[in-house]
Amino acid sequence: PTFEDFEGRGVWRYSAALPFDVGVTLPEGDTPLHRVPDLEDELGVEALRVKHEGMNPTGAFKDRGMTVGVRVAQELGVGRLACASTGNTSAALSAYGARANMETLVLLPAGKVAAGKVAQASLHGARILEVDGNFDTCLDIVQDLAESGDAYLLNSLNPFRLEGQKTIGLEILERFVDDYGAFPDRIVLPVGNAGNTAALYKCFRELVQSGALAKDDVPTLTGVQAEGAAPMVEAVQEGNDEVRRWDDVETRATAIRIGNPVNAPKALPGIRETGGTAVAVSDDEITRAQRDLAGEGVGVEPASAASLAGARKLRDEGVIEAGERVALLTTGHLLKDPDAAAAAGAEPESVPGTTEGVREHLAD
Ligand code: F0G
Repeated sequence: PTFEDFEGRGVWRYSAALPFDVGVTLPEGDTPLHRVPDLEDELGVEALRVKHEGMNPTGAFKDRGMTVGVRVAQELGVGRLACASTGNTSAALSAYGARANMETLVLLPAGKVAAGKVAQASLHGARILEVDGNFDTCLDIVQDLAESGDAYLLNSLNPFRLEGQKTIGLEILERFVDDYGAFPDRIVLPVGNAGNTAALYKCFRELVQSGALAKDDVPTLTGVQAEGAAPMVEAVQEGNDEVRRWDDVETRATAIRIGNPVNAPKALPGIRETGGTAVAVSDDEITRAQRDLAGEGVGVEPASAASLAGARKLRDEGVIEAGERVALLTTGHLLKDPDAAAAAGAEPESVPGTTEGVREHLAD
């Protein structure tokens, strides 16, 4: 396929808001906005929808950023693409790098990346460096490599990544109106580096500036982090303008096991100016949310389930009100982290290889 085949599809339906007519595309975007009636009842809000970004080509929202970012790299004629990653960025960059026939290098925190994500990077042919350190260390190193010209950086510090990720906001607004007849009041999303938070804020700012969206209709940006990796929550709750880097981070939601959210300067004003907030949830709350989303047929990885866990907490605290229309962003697919899914779900039962044996087992 050529570039042109996918013009006007998915992310590229919004090319007017992007730097090109089309990028290196698989194609990405156009993900479902699910109704979740049981969870809507439980939360007791006017409307609850789940934007499932795990339905992108590599199973996470990162594809929306890579279709733009890798196109930029092509235009620049760089020799090597690189990123640090908790897994999903590396999977996406590996696939888009392969599509563009470019050399790709990914730095991963050793032992802290879910199996599906490493497998993707591996099969798409990236060179994988397992670093003795956490994600933030990997990002420090890859920034050094980018500064010295050894690689082109495709983490969300790259502004072209965020351009593509703006389309999450455009799709949420459009689909919410199609389905419910009104814009959402609030978007609840997991936060790691705060790239999506920054991208959504930019998206809404541009819509307001262009006159397409009234300022009052801008959804409230609400970030969720895991308790063991919550520097943004700390900054929001303490009203700080800067985020303190956490050197020791831990959570089962390895995608957001991040202590130094590099997009905080772009994201904090977004949370503040939209009247939003940030909240931390425990790993057990994340696992329960992952199970309950799966119970509605929506399979997501742990980090994604943080959005539901956070919405529950804020509803309990009365921050989210009964009259609100809420969109939850789920960022990655269940299959990304098969070990977490299996641990959260039901145990398989051993049975004999006969119909009679199976009947007896079921009768027990
Ligand atoms: N959810 C998932 C599934 C992610 O993979 C990430 C980030 C986030 C949420 C946080 O998004 O950074 O925009 O606040 N993953 C990056 C990676 C760090 O390397 O895959 P953010």
